[in-house]
Amino acid sequence: MLSMKRKNINPAQIATVIGGMALVMGCSSDPDSPGLEYMPDMYRSPAIEAYVDYGLDPYYFGDSLVNAQRATPSARLPVQGTIAFAENEADALYNFPYPYPHTNEGYEQAGRELHSPIPMTEATVEQGKIIYEKFCIECHGPKGMGDGPVVNKGNYPTPPAFDGLLRDLPEGKVFHSITYGKNIAMGSHASQINQKERWLVVQYVKYLQHDGKMPGESAASDSTTTATTEAK
Ligand code: HEC
Repeated sequence: MLSMKRKNINPAQIATVIGGMALVMGCSSDPDSPGLEYMPDMYRSPAIEAYVDYGLDPYYFGDSLVNAQRATPSARLPVQGTIAFAENEADALYNFPYPYPHTNEGYEQAGRELHSPIPMTEATVEQGKIIYEKFCIECHGPKGMGDGPVVNKGNYPTPPAFDGLLRDLPEGKVFHSITYGKNIAMGSHASQINQKERWLVVQYVKYLQHDGKMPGESAASDSTTTATTEAK
């Protein structure tokens, strides 16, 4: 049966099909047209690509979408001296450039003057923890002891423990070091996490500096001998 069927297809038919496909895919009167694209996702990634103005893409979108997409910036930097617009006014603050320079003086000044715009609550510590577990835990370890897997494998400097040497590091310096990195062993995280996320992760660092407690919750509350009048 099978062999009979095979005999029915002659090379001329195959040539016609291939030739037809080539015609449909390759030919168009417009020299700039790519012709019919088979599986266009292969050429035109559905992800937003840097420097592509999707409004100019003749193929992928319908007219209404093209108009909406025209001149939509993808990877363009804001004009120098401008501050990116924030729809949510409370977040506008995070679009301002970081004012302290990457110098010892900048570091000291940040330590003195810079304070978190986010009040520390259990919810913000929890958000900070999520960021910490993505970007910091591999070196600093789950409790900030400097025992993350990168360090444990050896050949990598051990970061000081948050509740040890870094216990009294002010939040401004924590933010500064996340922004610029610290010496050569810790890189800048400014391109990975925005200012709001940096402040959130600072909350979690503060929590770890505080032996995994909210500031205000005194260590004495663990003890059986303390007075019970302390407000929660
Ligand atoms: C690649 C490993 C690595 C990663 C990832 C990393 N750190 Fe560090 N970090 C270090 C090391 C090592 C030091 C000690 C650097 C030194 O003092 O020379 C350090 C120092 C610090 C300090 C002390 C800075 C100071 O001013 O003394 C803080 C705070 C800190 N890291 C927080 C973070 C946070 C938060 C993250 C995640 C956003 C993070 N680190 C990601 C390795 C890392």
